[in-house]
Amino acid sequence: MSATPVPRSPRILRRAVLGAACAVASGWARAARPAVLLRFSHVVAPDTPKGQMALRFQSLVHARAGDRIRVEVHPASQFWGDDDEIEALRLGAVEMLAPSLSKFGMAGVPEFEVFDLPYLFADLAQVRRVTQGEVGRGLLQRLGRQQMLGLGFLDNGFKQMSAARPLRTPADYRGLRVRVQASRVLGEQVRALGAQPVVLPFGETQRALASGVVDAAENPLSNFLTQGLAALQPHITLTQHGYLGYAVVSHPRFWASLQPADRELLSTALAEALAHGNRLAAELDAMALATLRRTPGLQVHGLTPAERSALRRHLQTVYDGFQRSLGSALLTDVQRALDQR
Ligand code: LMR
Repeated sequence: MSATPVPRSPRILRRAVLGAACAVASGWARAARPAVLLRFSHVVAPDTPKGQMALRFQSLVHARAGDRIRVEVHPASQFWGDDDEIEALRLGAVEMLAPSLSKFGMAGVPEFEVFDLPYLFADLAQVRRVTQGEVGRGLLQRLGRQQMLGLGFLDNGFKQMSAARPLRTPADYRGLRVRVQASRVLGEQVRALGAQPVVLPFGETQRALASGVVDAAENPLSNFLTQGLAALQPHITLTQHGYLGYAVVSHPRFWASLQPADRELLSTALAEALAHGNRLAAELDAMALATLRRTPGLQVHGLTPAERSALRRHLQTVYDGFQRSLGSALLTDVQRALDQR
């Protein structure tokens, strides 16, 4: 399959100017210039696996390099959203990102959409057999085709469906407009349920739900909680239907420009930060669930095993579409990794 080119957004120039202006205003420009500046942009709240991983990376680098290497973390789509952050990386306006795996398809590496297949993984241990093994290494290498250097994987968790009603059976989805990330597999999944997928950047999802542009969403619990979606969606159903994780990427040009010792320091700090984030993922998910269960006005629904199997069977057609467009080799490799003990 040919690579999907990324459209150049005029917004990117406005954001670059805004980013520079904010940096000056907040005093970075007045501080002593570090030998290395690494801007790490992401779209979620600090109190999530990705937010915590980025902060841990920042503090590890600071502890080891002092002011010589400065890591700036920009959370919550502060300067770049998930619709333009990859282009910002290519243009040299940021040096590190951790987009969700679903976002690499539109960036020209459609193989990453394999992670979006519904009910592919039973748990995070299974995910890691793929991300931390040969298949994961191969996928990270493919990012080089699109001027990205893949540095590692991070978990968030499993997605749950929210709406103004419980979503127990495929029939419950009929007619809903569901916000999805820009992944063909996710679009196909929502259409298979008789609903309409609406692709929106993460940073616009809350507003779209509040204004009724969309009526449902799929999120891991830490994102649902920290985006304040419980105030907008009175029912969340624990469908566990799909995985959401990230790949940390930098730009090959930036990485090659580093002194070998600095590259080593950053690689080691990142590996430790990723291990921290991966340890935290299940914990933050469980904490978010406990908080959401206590949230007034929100009902949390579990699925019976029979309901989960029915949903899973219904979504099998999504696998056919994926294999038609990408062939079956990758899925076979993933399934082989899942079967390994
Ligand atoms: C989403 O767009 O829903 C997620 O990718 C956001 C994130 O980075 O967790």
